[in-house]
Amino acid sequence: MHWEKYSRQKINSVVFEAIGNNLNYRDSPPIGLPASYLDSKVFYSDAPFLGDAPFMSTMVANPNHIGCHTLGDSEPVFKGTQQLERELIDICATQIFGAEPDSVDGYVASGGTEANIQAFWVMRNYFMEVHGASLDEIAIVYSADAHYSMPKGGNLLCIQSIVADVDQETRLIDQDQLKAKLKEAEKQGIKNFIVVMNMSTTMFGSVDDMASTIDSLESLGLNFKIHVDGAYGGFIYPFSTEDPLYSFQNKHVISFSLDAHKMLQSPYGTGIALIRKGYIEYAMTKEANYVKGKDYTLVGSRSGANAVAIWMILRAYGSAGWKAKIEELLDRTEWLCAQLTKRGLKFYRHPRMNIVTLKPEPISLSLAAKYFLVPDDHESPSWWKVVVMDHVTEGILDQFLIDIDKELKNG
Ligand SMILES: Cc1ncc(COP(=O)(O)O)c(C=O)c1O
Repeated sequence: MHWEKYSRQKINSVVFEAIGNNLNYRDSPPIGLPASYLDSKVFYSDAPFLGDAPFMSTMVANPNHIGCHTLGDSEPVFKGTQQLERELIDICATQIFGAEPDSVDGYVASGGTEANIQAFWVMRNYFMEVHGASLDEIAIVYSADAHYSMPKGGNLLCIQSIVADVDQETRLIDQDQLKAKLKEAEKQGIKNFIVVMNMSTTMFGSVDDMASTIDSLESLGLNFKIHVDGAYGGFIYPFSTEDPLYSFQNKHVISFSLDAHKMLQSPYGTGIALIRKGYIEYAMTKEANYVKGKDYTLVGSRSGANAVAIWMILRAYGSAGWKAKIEELLDRTEWLCAQLTKRGLKFYRHPRMNIVTLKPEPISLSLAAKYFLVPDDHESPSWWKVVVMDHVTEGILDQFLIDIDKELKNG
């Protein structure tokens, strides 16, 4: 894994050059586009700080990245910033997920939800067009710990869900029970399976056992394709673990979802959809005639500034810098776990992730509220999670542990 770190000056000059390669609404007014710079009464473009603020300058310039820019034609008026989007997709595909050059399509989506649904949409249409499947012959398979965008996607796309139970301690899919459910689904006429593997889950940071799941699917001779939901763990797990199954080297994996607006701390609206080449065409909307190169994405218009923000963060760290940051967060998580263990407290943690999910016993509602801990279920919490991010410093964790000690003392 390697991508170069750029200096602040280089980042600035690349982004300003990219903006310069886009059409400037002021210099050459595009009278046919329903687009313009941001309202100049509110977002004035001569604000002095903008000259040193490439992301804000891109916001004000307001490029629309409608469509997908890793294949076919694209709207030429935004070619400068589209190039940065292509570069960030390439970094994620080849350097983070081991793809061969030019073997993956992708775009910056509104978030993990959209990237997941985009993948289901592509695969559903693939099964329908290539395997002649009807809607009731396709199902999405995912674990009970998967994000709620899975049932949301199934509902929107009119395909059924098969939900695999997980072991309450290890959070791993119960493979025997999964096989029984898959056999039953086959009996009901389901012939094509879109299988979601979590890298990692939202609540636990658990990572699905891909090898066992593939064994289960293959032992039943099923027709399946895998989508990896890396919306939470996509910028963590590949940096903490070498796992070729969670990469494009695994022939079953068709797509990944990532969310730069989680661990990468980029602005909201920075999900990333990565799809092996040869598949995104199944989601092409041929009626998108006014979009140059047609539209292969779920969303339609989307801000080019979001792509620039992701590109800037990736370039500001480089691969080595990002790995070091993840190591630092994992050290802090490790330390928290050691402190909890010392106190005899029960929790779940995947050893290569930065989420610690606590059993509720020592955590009163007021303590949970003080630290904004997130429950698995707001009605009746069985777990509370702590996510060790940049702002969750040793000092804050110390204070949290002091408060836990007080609760333990008071019984
Ligand atoms: C594992 C996982 N998948 C998908 C999503 C959905 O992401 P978004 O809120 O960006 O749509 C989340 C959000 O927490 C997540 O943790």
